[in-house]
Amino acid sequence: MARIISPSFLSADFLRLGESARVVNESRAEWFHLDVMDGVFVPNISFGLPVVRALRGATEKVLDVHLMIVQPERYVDDFRTAGADYLTVHVEASTHLHRTLQAIRDAGMRAGVALNPHTPVCAVEEVAEMADMILIMSVNPGFGGQKFIASSLDKVARTKELLLRKNSSALIQVDGGVNAENAAQLFAAGADVLVAGNAVFAAEDPVKAIQQLIDA
Ligand code: DX5
Ligand code: ZN
Repeated sequence: MARIISPSFLSADFLRLGESARVVNESRAEWFHLDVMDGVFVPNISFGLPVVRALRGATEKVLDVHLMIVQPERYVDDFRTAGADYLTVHVEASTHLHRTLQAIRDAGMRAGVALNPHTPVCAVEEVAEMADMILIMSVNPGFGGQKFIASSLDKVARTKELLLRKNSSALIQVDGGVNAENAAQLFAAGADVLVAGNAVFAAEDPVKAIQQLIDA
């Protein structure tokens, strides 16, 4: 099982994004997690294409773009052009999810599907084979620094069961409230990729915090 850390730049200092990119580049984190929010699907507005494009120029690591926007299918090509490697859309935000995932793959990216805390695992049953990643939201999306929803741990285990049953090699990502205390359990339950915002960028030493998550 992979143990990938994807630091969420939502918690970075936006005045010093280049410096944050340099720190993550020097760490053992393999991915950059970029949260795009539209103020409609979630109550918050974060950043969009220009920031993704700028960070593409600042790293060779995997750009893991998490779209919290309605009708994400409208922007597939734009995010490819901006440099996304993984493009994750919410099952709750895309009416024709099957078509959207196909479009992401046809554009040359890896396709992720995110589930809000209230959405059951079975919502991805029919697309498990065509997804490259399933993202289990362990907080309600919109903000960094929230408390991990404890039932997410069992949800990760049930997602792992689904993927095994479907013979899918999709990765499992967990996003929200991840820290050095719950990381080990999440990896043990089947998580491959842990997103961490506050646990990394609010730490005194982000490189060390990333290492602690990997070693959890
Ligand atoms: C929340 C975002 C997360 C967020 C995680 O809607 O999807 O990626 O930045 O932040 P932490 O790790 O602080 O909960
Ligand atoms: Zn996210």
